[in-house]
Amino acid sequence: MTNRKTLVWDLPLRIFHWSLVLLIFAQWLTAEVLDGYMDLHAKFGYSLLGLVIFRVVWGIVGPKHSRFGSFLRGPSAIYHYAHSLLSRRPSTYTGHNPLGALMVPAILIVVGAQGISGLFVTDDVLFTGPYYPSVTDETQGIMQWLHHTLFDVLLIIIGLHISAILSYELLLKKPLIGSMLHGKKDVQSKNGITHSRWILAVFIALIIAAFMYWLVVVAVPEVELDFYY
Ligand code: HEM
Ligand code: HEM
Repeated sequence: MTNRKTLVWDLPLRIFHWSLVLLIFAQWLTAEVLDGYMDLHAKFGYSLLGLVIFRVVWGIVGPKHSRFGSFLRGPSAIYHYAHSLLSRRPSTYTGHNPLGALMVPAILIVVGAQGISGLFVTDDVLFTGPYYPSVTDETQGIMQWLHHTLFDVLLIIIGLHISAILSYELLLKKPLIGSMLHGKKDVQSKNGITHSRWILAVFIALIIAAFMYWLVVVAVPEVELDFYY
């Protein structure tokens, strides 16, 4: 069978990826570069948390190459892939390769933990996360530490991710970036997907948006006024 341009990355996954990139950039901008944008920082943070939840659900019910079960593999597959990579003749995979696949849970865990810790921190000036007043001083300290430290961990993972993608593009001549934009790869059509399941994705996104609203608006405990004085 010959290879032809075949849909591999569904539309919701691609929207997830590029929204993640834009929002993480916006988080850095609103926290470290611009002053007075903490409200926006919090809203982008809630959106990032929602995105992470979406990707976890999509990893269970999404199309083939988005499902965790289709790309998370055991140590021996990872070892064999790493070996083939060192010989500069990497085995071909339609979706994520076993080594690159490890980055997916790593990024989801770190961004998820960064978003959750944000709910419990303060900038010591005007803004406090919605659950900051509800926890002990000790928990506040741990969350503050996590919120500062995890971003450095995230930057390291992103640096590795972008370097890996650029190496595939430039050294191994694999057009991965284009495929994350239009969704298609040059593979046998039987290995691709036929639908993006976007109606299911919209339905899941709406439920998650409602959950996030509940979490950061409805469920937030009322604060005693003397907490601030
Ligand atoms: C904030 C920066 C970034 C983050 C957090 C990030 C995160 C991710 C994640 C989580 C995936 C896995 C997709 C999934 O299955 O859920 C992925 C895949 C991918 N990303 Fe990124 N990404 C970033 C920046 C970029 C940039 C700048 C590029 C392009 C230069 C890029 C190109 C790709 C490609 C091509 C894939 C698919 C890899 C494959 O074929 O296995 N990413 N990225
Ligand atoms: C995944 C989502 C998030 C990312 C990537 C992120 C990233 C960051 C970064 C890079 C900083 C600067 C840390 C430093 O100066 O070392 C920061 C600070 C801060 N973030 Fe976030 N954040 C996220 C979510 C949130 C959320 C949801 C909230 C609150 C609702 C929040 C509230 C804050 C506050 C109050 C600060 C200031 C802390 C301080 O000055 O000590 N963040 N965030």
